[in-house]
Amino acid sequence: MCGIVGFVGHKNAANKIINGLKRLEYRGYDSAGIALVEKGSGKLCVIKTAGKIADLEHEVQSGYSGSSETGIGHTRWATHGKPTKDNAHPHATEFIALVHNGIIENYADLRKRLASYGISLYSDTDTEVVAQMISFLFSKGASPLEAVQQTISLIQGAYAFGVVFNKHPEMVICARQGSPLAVGTDVDGRLSLGSDAVALSGFASQIIYLESGDIAQLYSNGNLNIFDKENNEVKRQWQPIDKDQAAPDKKGYEHFMLKEIFEQPSTIKNTLTHYIGRAVNKTDNVLETNIHPSGLNWNQINHITIVACGTSYYAGLVAKYWFEKYARIPVEVDVASEYRYRTPPIYEKSIGIFISQSGETADTLAALRYMRSLGHMCAAIVNVPTSTLAREADAVLPTFAGTEVSVASTKAFTAQMTVLAYMLIEALKTRNCIDLSADFAKEILDINELISRALDTMQKLAPLAKKLSKAKDIIYFGRGALYPIAMEGALKMKELSYIHAEGYAAGEMKHGPIALIDKGMPIIVLCPYDKDGLFHKVVSNICEAETRGAQISVLTCNKGRALFKEMGLKYSTYLYPETTQFTAPMLYSIPVQFLAYLTALNRGVDIDQPRNLAKSVTVE
Ligand code: G6P
Repeated sequence: MCGIVGFVGHKNAANKIINGLKRLEYRGYDSAGIALVEKGSGKLCVIKTAGKIADLEHEVQSGYSGSSETGIGHTRWATHGKPTKDNAHPHATEFIALVHNGIIENYADLRKRLASYGISLYSDTDTEVVAQMISFLFSKGASPLEAVQQTISLIQGAYAFGVVFNKHPEMVICARQGSPLAVGTDVDGRLSLGSDAVALSGFASQIIYLESGDIAQLYSNGNLNIFDKENNEVKRQWQPIDKDQAAPDKKGYEHFMLKEIFEQPSTIKNTLTHYIGRAVNKTDNVLETNIHPSGLNWNQINHITIVACGTSYYAGLVAKYWFEKYARIPVEVDVASEYRYRTPPIYEKSIGIFISQSGETADTLAALRYMRSLGHMCAAIVNVPTSTLAREADAVLPTFAGTEVSVASTKAFTAQMTVLAYMLIEALKTRNCIDLSADFAKEILDINELISRALDTMQKLAPLAKKLSKAKDIIYFGRGALYPIAMEGALKMKELSYIHAEGYAAGEMKHGPIALIDKGMPIIVLCPYDKDGLFHKVVSNICEAETRGAQISVLTCNKGRALFKEMGLKYSTYLYPETTQFTAPMLYSIPVQFLAYLTALNRGVDIDQPRNLAKSVTVE
């Protein structure tokens, strides 16, 4: 989603901005731009493109010959107004240029107000009203800071913005409310600003995450003034930049997504190591598991509300199956954009669990703030420990997946399930289900090896992916905790290949989706053998679909395949290691990710940055 970078007092600011924007590409965008302030003349130079950063870089190289040390840059993910050059940021007037991430909700009122001042707008964006208002107030004699403060008092919505002034090449002002924004400093004290640490890694050695309501003035001599929402000058803490957030590297893989899929055995292991220890008792050679305390008191928790978006939401749905079945704790799972608008009932002894890879998803953050305002304890499962969600939650359970670059989430998803599995194990132990807790701890400690074995056989999916790449629609079936994985598989397929796909609880097929089935319709079934009896139920559902002409592909285990054979059923089967109902959702995530990857590869689309998608969705 929209990304911001800015530099003040840096030689060759244009180059630095382009490099910063390249680091932000992973967030997803559809147009980009840059504004530079010339030192001597105070001339504002704005260059924008409706294409990629590479196009912008080309335009800057061919069209800009200045030597500015101050400027701002932006990647835009269109909300209000199509992704055209006019709508791209920076939005500029004679006096200022501004980049913005967020949504100005009262932009229509501000447009009217600006019209009454005789100012008409050239773009369709919500952002331009902010630029025009700051410019208008500045032109009427307000100082840059006053113009920003007065404009902020007029706007409603979420924003992070950076603004440069033609008459002040020595300064950048930035502000945030809701949307994230950080200030960086290098070892020589030169300042920069960016949407996140990834944008600033490589330039800055330390970073300040601005608080909501903050306004900061960054000067070329290294001075930094920060004002809080009451306009009091405040000091904020510098933090070292996490090395892990340095510029991402594909390490020889064709795509970040492929690299991230293959990293899962080690990212799960990293996450497990933090939460569950394994020791060998030398005397009798018994494996011992040690469950590290999370600080949550499971004896005091009788209800769980899980809130998340996208893939993270499906991790929450898996946890619902786990917690309700094994710990007997009722769990509600909500998509964050719905949660606070449905006025949910509030339960006694309830905990909120907010799951997010980025920790910046606007809907998830808003839901967290809503639940906390009701006095509830809120825990966050996040992959970015410095994120806003992590900073605002009462308890943080980090995933240790490392920076995830591919827009479609893979390793963060399995790391989220790892943390949720650990929470279940801890809850079971605390609530006196010691044996089950110990069994699950042992099982989960082996999951990375099962996943490694599964990854060794992934290329076997290639012929299926080739066929799927020509499909118009694909259905995924699963039951129990594999139903969320069927939905996640369908989501991955949609995101990456742009093929319509849906995940269904297999038993639900006859209540509607069966009408879609005609000759050749591909159905992917997640159907490992399980001793609780769901296997045979899924087999019946498959038969109903096959009778109507569907082309069935089954992801199963050896025992499942043997049973299919016994029953005389000849489907294309893809084999994975034996699992239990507890670990199956983690293992079967891998083939559905890989299948989507291979299908997209066959279709020749942009795998790491699928069209219209954003990695970090910072607007509601
Ligand atoms: C976007 C991404 C998805 C992600 C979702 C939630 O839609 O494209 O891959 O699952 O946001 O993101 P979060 O960072 O909160 O997990």
